[in-house]
Amino acid sequence: MRSHEAGALHGQSGDRGPAWLRTPEDSNQLVPHLWAANVSKVNGVLTVAGESVTDIAAEFGTPTYVIDEDDFRRRARSFKDAFPNADVYYAGKAFLCVSTARWIADEGLNLDVCTGGELAVAIKAEFPPARIGLHGNNKSIDELRRALEIGVGRIIIDSLEEIDRLSTLTSELEVTASVMVRVTAGVEAHTHEYISTSHEDQKFGFSISGGEAFDAVRRILAAPGLTLLGLHSHIGSQIFVTDGFEVAARRVLRLHAQIQQELGVVLPEFDLGGGFGIAYTTQDDPATPEDLARGMLKIVDDECEAMGIDVPQLSIEPGRAIAGPSTFTLYEVGTTKAVALDGGASRRYVSVDGGMSDNIRPALYSADYSCTLASRGSDSPAVLSRVVGKHCESGDIVVKDEFLPDDVRAGDLLAVPGTGAYCRSLASNYNHVPRAAVVAVREGEARVIVRRETEDDLLALDLG
Ligand code: LLP
Repeated sequence: MRSHEAGALHGQSGDRGPAWLRTPEDSNQLVPHLWAANVSKVNGVLTVAGESVTDIAAEFGTPTYVIDEDDFRRRARSFKDAFPNADVYYAGKAFLCVSTARWIADEGLNLDVCTGGELAVAIKAEFPPARIGLHGNNKSIDELRRALEIGVGRIIIDSLEEIDRLSTLTSELEVTASVMVRVTAGVEAHTHEYISTSHEDQKFGFSISGGEAFDAVRRILAAPGLTLLGLHSHIGSQIFVTDGFEVAARRVLRLHAQIQQELGVVLPEFDLGGGFGIAYTTQDDPATPEDLARGMLKIVDDECEAMGIDVPQLSIEPGRAIAGPSTFTLYEVGTTKAVALDGGASRRYVSVDGGMSDNIRPALYSADYSCTLASRGSDSPAVLSRVVGKHCESGDIVVKDEFLPDDVRAGDLLAVPGTGAYCRSLASNYNHVPRAAVVAVREGEARVIVRRETEDDLLALDLG
């Protein structure tokens, strides 16, 4: 069969895949830094914290997100340890459920939520309200009211309308609101356009260069019921270099100093946002929290010294870097087929029992992932493979390019690492596929922390 009538450009690469993809010496071996700390292979079978994926699949079914609880907690702690004087807010949008909210609370982190739904999960987990920050570019009056009623620690203001809404609500509820202002520093983060948030042609925040941020600060300072804590800047996601943070921090701190000089107000805090990248494949080389802390704290210290201002209390909001590497998705293979590519190359398609409904990131951001044959070892030669889902779309790709043993067949289990962030939280019911379960494993014990949806769940919503 010819690969693609439109020719080689559509058929893309040859049989060795993209330039970054290493041909493995032994495709049974894991690339350790792509996996959670307690994941390894025992006699060819992937195990996490003493629990084998064959047992997990037998007990809980597939597809399943499998989270190494200790790894998640350790990553949360490592940000606390690396930034000992800063407040670390876990960005719940990466993955939030009652269990992860409790782990975050236990480890001493704060929590960033950005909708009423995320706030409801935090409340159900009995997360201390004073340690919650509420984000969102279009918070509803009900969301703001609920946040004020339970006493969230801070609300990050994102629009002029929100200033008025909050001020009205504080007088109605006879409370005060501690707020930050989200500003855009005009930095182009080198990441996918849809996850780059601090350049100015997008929906978030108040522009510094256009003067909107300064005006918003003035309005907040004049608004009854609001206490302004400081400025907030998040430049984007899956970022690997600190250059972007450096430029953004300099611009935000200049505004901070301007507010001090012109308005006589010393803002006590500064939030640097999240966005720290993780390794999905061998192409990615993320910094450790310690490296990030060293770089970012120095940037802030140097800038403050140059401007003659005190260093404000800092906060950061990592999401992906805590949740992402802690989890892999376990799938079962259903079908395989080989496709002949132009120039004599070939590609083998491996279809699994999930896909774009449990991980939309390849389709949405062209994100690359890796995977391994998880249920057994194999001596077969590794062949270039594309792992695809079960949805009715050819863009339903789970792993675009990976070397997998030639004998991968129906019934095998595949595991895709790095799926803890923005996979379950972005999951959909496309094609009426029920959303997958999340299973947490710790010290040889596996338990469901988010149950699998059922067809009955889906049908219950359809009122006919
Ligand atoms: N703080 C704010 C204000 C944010 O908007 C975000 C992410 C974070 C913190 C956490 O960023 P992280 O450390 O997780 O990169 N769905 C996309 C990512 C969207 C990020 C939205 N905001 C993805 O799958 O890559």
